[in-house]
Amino acid sequence: MRILVTGGAGFIGSNFLTRYVLRHPEHDFINVDKLTYAANPHSLTKVALKPNYTFVHADIVDAERIDAIFEEYRPDAVVHFAAESHVDRSILDPRDFLRTNVEGTFNLLQACRRIWKRDEGFFHHVSTDEVYGSLGAEGLFTEDSPYDPSSPYSACKAASDHLVRAWHRTYGLPVKITNCSNNYGPRQFPEKLIPLMITRCLEGRPLPIYGNGTNVRDWLYVDDHSDAIWAVMERGRVGETYNIGGNSEQRNIDVVERVCELVAREAGIPESQLTSLITYVPDRPGHDARYAVDASKLRDECGWEPTETFTTGLEKTVRWYLGNQEWVNQVTTGEYREWVSRRYPEAAKTV
Ligand code: NAD
Ligand code: TYD
Repeated sequence: MRILVTGGAGFIGSNFLTRYVLRHPEHDFINVDKLTYAANPHSLTKVALKPNYTFVHADIVDAERIDAIFEEYRPDAVVHFAAESHVDRSILDPRDFLRTNVEGTFNLLQACRRIWKRDEGFFHHVSTDEVYGSLGAEGLFTEDSPYDPSSPYSACKAASDHLVRAWHRTYGLPVKITNCSNNYGPRQFPEKLIPLMITRCLEGRPLPIYGNGTNVRDWLYVDDHSDAIWAVMERGRVGETYNIGGNSEQRNIDVVERVCELVAREAGIPESQLTSLITYVPDRPGHDARYAVDASKLRDECGWEPTETFTTGLEKTVRWYLGNQEWVNQVTTGEYREWVSRRYPEAAKTV
């Protein structure tokens, strides 16, 4: 099978490719990625030279280019990770979110229709639980929860989910959608809560907590997300949505305190020195209070359950960042962006 993956140089996509290119030499994987600031080809070193892996540098917003790529590679399946993914960036500058997450998804759906007849092929859309908006103190998101997105990011992801469902109902495109809770793990760009806090602990810089720190997120280790996607690809029903969650609700302040505790232990820094860096800052506009996911449909139909607990996953994550400062420096110092513009000169203006 030829599987075209978009956004495979990002945090989750590179994890997915590293796991499944190696496990499935009988499938060919084509990774289409624009290499934005959030991507890092160094995250793909284990698969870069494998005969069943090909990298294609392209922007999914460029419809002609996407059509040409589909014409050339004629994929049997698409797994769509590519997105602008950070809520704070979406608040500051939403335009790229609309372009990539909505128009980019539209271009992919149209490209699929061009190469596949009705009921042919397979499109797996990777989405977020943030499309459901915010929960109160009780309850869980189910696949039937109404869409109620709060941020430009989640509104654009919600729009893309609607497009994918519509292309299934209207044009008979075989699709599956997964909506997953907050991921963490190695190789996450240090703008998201957990890697941001780890790297700032190591730099001795303030640890910014939005609002009063009581907002709750459900956390899932990235390996578990990749395996859930594969389980849905193999065993999920066409046209269906599956929620993915870690069954691990945490308040932000508790997450940050756990990070301080682990970094202190692993790096030999006094814990009080790190907790003293905790700084409450003005709240994020439209900040959702609580996310929590009912993933029982996925468990019952596809036999998937998370393997990491928050304790084991966070330990692995902290150890990875401590042992891979070079990766962090590459993505934060601009060295990586210089590499991208040397390697892909035509992208110099866009990355
Ligand atoms: P990321 O920001 O780490 O990576 C995104 C990748 O997409 C990068 O490699 C980037 O270069 C690529 N990309 C961006 N714009 C592109 C474009 N126009 N054309 C081609 N490639 C482009 O994101 P992530 O955290 O790995 O998230 C992957 C997917 O999973 C996203 O669709 C996101 O909405 C979804 N998701 C993420 C989380 C999470 O906690 N990170 C949770 C649930 C769902
Ligand atoms: P984030 O990692 O940006 O993921 P998302 O917004 O998609 O849930 O943020 C996770 C939670 O942490 C969210 O409630 C916002 C909060 N947060 C902070 O308190 N401080 C920070 O510096 C960041 C980046 C996030």
